[in-house]
Amino acid sequence: MKDLQNIKQRFGIIGNYDGLNRAIDIAMQVAPTDLSVLISGESGTGKEIFPQVIHTYSSRKHGQYIAVNCGAIPEGTIDSELFGHEKGSFTGATESRKGYFEVADGGTIFLDEISDLPLSTQVRLLRVLETGEFIRVGSSKVQKTNVRVIAASNIDVPKAIENGRFREDLFYRLNTVPIRIPALRERGDDIFLLFRKFSVDFAEKYRMPAIRLDQDARNVLMGYSWPGNVRQLKNITEQISIIENEREISASALRSYLPDYGEAKLPALIRKEEDRSFASEREILYKILFDMKSDMNDLKKLVFDLIRKGDIDVSLQDTDPRVIKNLFREASKENVNHQAEETLPSDLVKQHSAHKDIQDTEEIIEESLSLADKEVEMIQKALEKFNGKRKMAAKELGISERTLYRKIKEYGIES
Ligand SMILES: Nc1ncnc2c1ncn2[C@@H]1O[C@H](COP(=O)(O)OP(=O)(O)OP(=O)(O)O)[C@@H](O)[C@H]1O
Ligand SMILES: [Mg+2]
Repeated sequence: MKDLQNIKQRFGIIGNYDGLNRAIDIAMQVAPTDLSVLISGESGTGKEIFPQVIHTYSSRKHGQYIAVNCGAIPEGTIDSELFGHEKGSFTGATESRKGYFEVADGGTIFLDEISDLPLSTQVRLLRVLETGEFIRVGSSKVQKTNVRVIAASNIDVPKAIENGRFREDLFYRLNTVPIRIPALRERGDDIFLLFRKFSVDFAEKYRMPAIRLDQDARNVLMGYSWPGNVRQLKNITEQISIIENEREISASALRSYLPDYGEAKLPALIRKEEDRSFASEREILYKILFDMKSDMNDLKKLVFDLIRKGDIDVSLQDTDPRVIKNLFREASKENVNHQAEETLPSDLVKQHSAHKDIQDTEEIIEESLSLADKEVEMIQKALEKFNGKRKMAAKELGISERTLYRKIKEYGIES
C-alpha cells in the first residue's frame, strides 16, 4: 500500500481507482522478472509511464532504457533501427550501425504502438524474444542480446490478429503478463482529481489562479465519455485555463470545450466500436436517454424554481394545467421542503410577475407540454387497443401496471 503511494508520487501518477492501482501493482510484481509485458489501453490513458516504472524497479535499472515508437518509424527503416545494419546493405547505408536491440543489451526496450510493426519485423522480433538472437540487416551473422521487451498498444491486438495484421505467436509471447490501463471514463472520482492536479499545474505554468468547477460543471466533467482519456482532460484543462477569464467554470462553459458532448456523443463512440469491443449500441442509447432525461429534469426544476419565485407569469391562458401539475410533481420530489403538493399548483397559477422576458423558458414549457400530451395519447391508445385492460396496456407500453395506474390517475385519463 505504501509502495503504491510512493510509486505514484515518484512517477506523478494521479488517481486511486482500483483498476489503476491493480495495473501499478502488476507492474511492480512483474518488474523484477524478465517477462515480457504487453500494456493495453485506449489512447491517452497513460500507458507510457508503465514501462519506465517496470524498468526502474527491475534489476536492469542501470542498463539502457530505450523507447521506440513503432508507428513513427517508416516501414523501410524499422528493421535497421531495431536490429542494425551493415555498411552497404541498402542505398544510403554508408556506415554500419547498431540497432536498439544491440544497444540495449542488458536493459529494456519499450516498443510503443506495437501493432504498427510490419509483419516481417514481427518475425524478427519473435526470434529475439524466443532465443535472444538477431541479425543485422545485410548481415548473415547471428548475434545475441539480452533485452527485456515491454510493448504497448492502443488498439485491440486480438482484432489485429483477426485481420491478419499481427502474428498470433508474437502476441502470446509478448502477452505473458498483460497490463490493462483503464479508460478515464471508468475511473470515477479520479477524473476530478486529475482535473484539479492539471488546473493547479497550469495555474503555475501560466502564473494565474487555478480554475475551479462549480457543482454542475463537476457533474458534466464526471459524466463525459472522455474519448481521448487523460490526454484530452489535460489538454482541455489547459485550454480553459488560458481562454476563460472567469476562474469558476460553469457547466455550459465546460461543455463548450467537450467535443461530441450530449447527443453527438453517439458517432464518436460508434467509431471506436469498429476497432474495439466497447459499449454496445444499446448501452450508448441508454446513456443518451439517461442524459436527456436528466437534462429534462434539470429544466423542469429550473422552470419550477422560476415559477415559484414568481419570475415567470403562468397565467395558464395558453398552457395546459396538466403540464404545470406534472412539472410541479417532478420538481417537488427534489424540493421536499416546499409547500405541500396539493396547495402548490393553484398557488403557482395565481402567481404573477413583472418579469416577462424569459422567452426561452416559455418555449421549454411548450416542449414539455407536447411530451406530456404524447404520453397521455399513448396511454389512451394502449387502453383503447386492449379495451381498457390495464394489464395488457401496461405490457404494450413497457411499463408496470402500477406505473400505468399512477399515470392514469395523474393525468386524469378516462378508462
Ligand atoms: N494517472 C495519471 N496521472 C497524471 N498524468 C497522467 C496520468 N495518466 C496519464 N497522464 C498524462 O496524460 C498524458 C497521456 O498519457 P500517455 O502519453 O502515457 O498516453 P498513452 O496511453 O501512451 O496514449 P497513446 O496510446 O495515444 O500513445 C500524458 O501527458 C501523461 O503524463
Ligand atoms: Mg503513447
